[in-house]
Amino acid sequence: MNNFKNLRGTADLLPDQLIKWQNVEKIILEQLCRSSVKEIRTPIIEMTELFMRGIGEGTDVVSKEMYTFLDRGERSCTLRPEGTASVARALIQNGISSKPLQKLWYMGPMFRYERPQAGRQRQFHQLGVEFVGYESVRSDIEIITLAWDILEKLGIKELNLEINTLGDNIDRSNFQKAFLKWLEVNKNSLDLDSQKRIDKNPLRILDTKNVQTKKILEDAPRLFDFLSEKSVQRYLNIKEQLKLLKIPYLENFNLVRGLDYYTHIAFEITSGSLGSQATVCGGGRYDNLVSQMGGTETPAIGFAIGLERLILLSGNELEESRETDIYIVNKGNKAETLAMKLSRKLRNYDLIAELDISGASFSKQLKKANKLKSKSIIVIGDDEALKNQFVIRLFNNENLKNMEETISLDDAIKLENWLEKNLLLKRSSLS
Ligand code: HAM
Repeated sequence: MNNFKNLRGTADLLPDQLIKWQNVEKIILEQLCRSSVKEIRTPIIEMTELFMRGIGEGTDVVSKEMYTFLDRGERSCTLRPEGTASVARALIQNGISSKPLQKLWYMGPMFRYERPQAGRQRQFHQLGVEFVGYESVRSDIEIITLAWDILEKLGIKELNLEINTLGDNIDRSNFQKAFLKWLEVNKNSLDLDSQKRIDKNPLRILDTKNVQTKKILEDAPRLFDFLSEKSVQRYLNIKEQLKLLKIPYLENFNLVRGLDYYTHIAFEITSGSLGSQATVCGGGRYDNLVSQMGGTETPAIGFAIGLERLILLSGNELEESRETDIYIVNKGNKAETLAMKLSRKLRNYDLIAELDISGASFSKQLKKANKLKSKSIIVIGDDEALKNQFVIRLFNNENLKNMEETISLDDAIKLENWLEKNLLLKRSSLS
């Protein structure tokens, strides 16, 4: 017998867990809607070339972590490791990147072949937000505050915002020249991983976790010192506005992010309540990505939040689902038909009406209603059904008798009155 298991780094999300996921997603979507951000959906599978060009061949994501394979037509395909490159492609391809001001969000699975641990999976989920066509500092602030507010709305504690600026392409290439010179001289003092990065992606050496390398890097040239006056002004302006909005931040000059497309502001939000995988949100400006991928010059900024980490962080109160309003106990041929009709009627009132379809005895069905903590029950036997009636009453209530009512299936007014009085159903939903 073959016992199949899911692949390492992937996870089944079971019904009980999904209650929390759905509640979290609902809060996120409401917040996005309030900020007029519109949804975009792109394919999970793309041409490999898209990510090589968009994210950068020297990055860990592209060089080590992608799920890449040849399809039956010998095309190299990749399961998306992130969403920004796909969004840029979709906008260019559909001719809308040049239309200014797109505020977009997406949510879904991403794939990276990383070493799995708590909060790090090979198939994980992201909420991504991209503001495309936006150039102003205010759009930088709007993006950062949106990420911050979503996390706060979800009640996430101990949030820390770290920011840095990567300047524009010219600033960075000037810095890179000086940094490479310094690396040549200091190469042997660096850890092996950092040494390997010198040719592939020297900037990433800056966010090494190696303590010794960190110490040595203190004497390296600083990117900030290579920024043009304009880039510095932009960054100072962002800091000023964050202060005005009372969003606390820390500057981290070593924050370079793992993807090559960033320019100017880069940021991460961590939570002290998470373990080693503390970064719950990462983002920044990427003014060159769209043009680099064949579109017109289009400034843009965005972020992505890791949903698994968000779920780990959000409170238990989000694990609660809506209670069953009415449980319909029914047995007998006629009773079952009436119960089916009735359940559809009740659901039209936006009630959670659970129809028992087990065919079990009345007492077993009542036990199930009890287990579900249903607020009320309807009991239908063939005797009631013959008269086209049902009995409805509050469940687990001391004044059971007072609340009990026999109602005819066609008597909408009597039913609605009962629902309004006992389940506090608003008149507005009773139509
Ligand atoms: P990222 O920093 O690579 O940025 O990922 C964003 C977030 O996704 C991380 O902060 C983390 O919460 C989550 N994440 C990443 N990898 C994993 C993993 N293996 N398991 C669980 N969660 C993970 C981006 O992806 C950019 N596209 C963000 C962006 C949008 N920048 C501009 N626009």
